[in-house]
Amino acid sequence: MERLIIKGGNQLHGEVNCSGAKNSGLPILASTILLDTPAKIGNLPHLQDITTMLELLNSMGALINFDEDGYIEIDSSNISLPEARYELVKTMRASILVMGPLVAKYGKAKISQPGGCNIGTRPIDFHLDGLEKMGAKIKSDARYIYLEADKLNPIDFIFPKISVTGTENLMMAAAIIEGKTVLKNCAKEPEVVELANFLNNCGANIVGAGESSIEINGAKSLKSDKWDVLFDRIEAGTYMVAGAITNGHVRINKIKPETIKIISSKLMEMGAIVNSGNDWVEVDATKSELISKDISTKPFPGFPTDMQAQFMALNSISNGSSIIEETVFENRFQHVGELKKMGADISLDKNKASVKGVSNLVGAVVSASDLRASASLVLAGLVGKNRTQIEDIYHIDRGYECIEEKLTKLGAEIFREPAEY
Ligand code: UD1
Repeated sequence: MERLIIKGGNQLHGEVNCSGAKNSGLPILASTILLDTPAKIGNLPHLQDITTMLELLNSMGALINFDEDGYIEIDSSNISLPEARYELVKTMRASILVMGPLVAKYGKAKISQPGGCNIGTRPIDFHLDGLEKMGAKIKSDARYIYLEADKLNPIDFIFPKISVTGTENLMMAAAIIEGKTVLKNCAKEPEVVELANFLNNCGANIVGAGESSIEINGAKSLKSDKWDVLFDRIEAGTYMVAGAITNGHVRINKIKPETIKIISSKLMEMGAIVNSGNDWVEVDATKSELISKDISTKPFPGFPTDMQAQFMALNSISNGSSIIEETVFENRFQHVGELKKMGADISLDKNKASVKGVSNLVGAVVSASDLRASASLVLAGLVGKNRTQIEDIYHIDRGYECIEEKLTKLGAEIFREPAEY
């Protein structure tokens, strides 16, 4: 176990490179199950979740090679054990992304029940409904879900609610199902579009990714090419907030500004100066007195739930009051109690948090409860007086590559130390 120690109060200045997105890497890695040839995937972030997905593919029989040029070669063409074990699924719910590809390619999948999660119940009923309509026979017991199909059929399917991994799972399965599948009320997230782009590059025929309705004409065989994973818009957004919260001036490279427009706009609304170029964005808050602004999370292109906690930290020390509404997940306010320990003035009423800006936060011993909650505590620690100690940081290692190195480069005082419990 490790903890992060932050001595707050330094204004951040300088530039960092954005890493590849885990939420893009994970479905792309899962989709290699559909391919008949090895795939070479680059720009994968060095994160625990990516390692877990590689371990999962490997445990099923895929061959993984780390090339010298930084690409990872995955040969999933001969999977012998189409099974996602509990030990792997429990640490990463996104393991369920192998379900659609496995049943489409191998006619069989045994997936551990994903179970609960600390940001809400997060069911997978849409994934299962869709696959069942495609013709999979599904059984389950307390530990596993078993899927079997001789042949899957194309479907017309309307998601009852927008789901990112739900869209990805059904899109992947449909990519090799003979005939035309139409998915409606789909997630429009850039990571969904990127998965479609990757699969199309492998020979799939997917039209409309990024729109509400996606049409997929199944291909007989998919063959891979080299592919670089998309940048992580949530990592980029987190460093933008780090610039803003410390009244600093931070530039983030290797991004696409149009993908993070909603984050840039919110920061500008709050009073920060945001400039961007072809593949970079910078936040200058050196001369700004930031004003608290309301936020309501929505599926893309709305305000991302994955940035809610970070903006809660920012609103906590901005002028005025704001309401932060969480509409995507039912229980994503675990950071509130921890931010309050640091002096934030936040009250909760169901899915709404009222945040009254305070003039400063104070370092405390806090605990990370999930990935983005951890990011909000790091941000609060950057500006909090004295020393902040963040426990249970394995969550942050699931989603932020080299966070101490990147923040140190920007001028933060942050380090990791072993924690003995
Ligand atoms: C993905 C992201 C996660 C992000 C979330 C919302 C990955 C690996 N993770 O998670 O970082 O926070 O999108 O942007 O890409 N739902 C159901 N039944 C289902 C599926 C979903 O009721 O079968 C509900 C969920 O409980 C939630 C909502 O739909 O309330 C959206 O969840 P979903 O988009 O599926 O989240 P994930 O794909 O798990």
